[in-house]
Amino acid sequence: MLELEVWSVSIMNRTGKSIVLIGMMGAGKSSVGRCLHRRTRLALLDTDDIVASKFGISILEIFFKYGEQRFREAETQALRGLAPATQAIIVTGGGIVLREENVDRLKRLGILIWIDANEKTLFERASRAANRPLLEGDNPREAFAQMLQARLPLYAKIAHLRVDTSVLTDEEVAVAILSKLRRLDRNPGLGLSIPATAQ
Ligand code: S3P
Repeated sequence: MLELEVWSVSIMNRTGKSIVLIGMMGAGKSSVGRCLHRRTRLALLDTDDIVASKFGISILEIFFKYGEQRFREAETQALRGLAPATQAIIVTGGGIVLREENVDRLKRLGILIWIDANEKTLFERASRAANRPLLEGDNPREAFAQMLQARLPLYAKIAHLRVDTSVLTDEEVAVAILSKLRRLDRNPGLGLSIPATAQ
């Protein structure tokens, strides 16, 4: 079984009990989120889905029609609407860590799990589907590298756990996360409440 890194001792300071997935586009947050949802039966919430349904169009269309700032504002609003007391699997967009308000809110929601991979893998996965507006420019590889460079320290600063998914399937990542959380759950001070039915 893969041993996840316990990234931060600040895990004790969480208040919420949700499992919050953060990380760069292409990391596999949405797919891993779906696996976790199936295994735990916890509600699955995705900030991109909340934003897209609010606008009634895709994220790609929101960027093209209204620009990144409008998207970022809606992303923060989606986060404001999530109740820290309700336990869920929460999937976030890769850029959510760019705003300080978002970071504060994420921390209150629960345990922050950084879904990571090596840069080459992240880029390959991110460019597989043509639904990433920030990779639509002339040099997507360079744009990706710059974004990653700027964001790595932000993910590293707030994540409680990090999992390198480069050579793992989504199911393997979900199993590894749940097994790690179950072990942490034995510590009564954490109050993670991983459902007993989780497989
Ligand atoms: C973004 C990532 C996307 C989406 C939007 C912006 C980013 O989500 O929120 O295109 O800034 O990295 P994924 O991380 O699910 O691709």
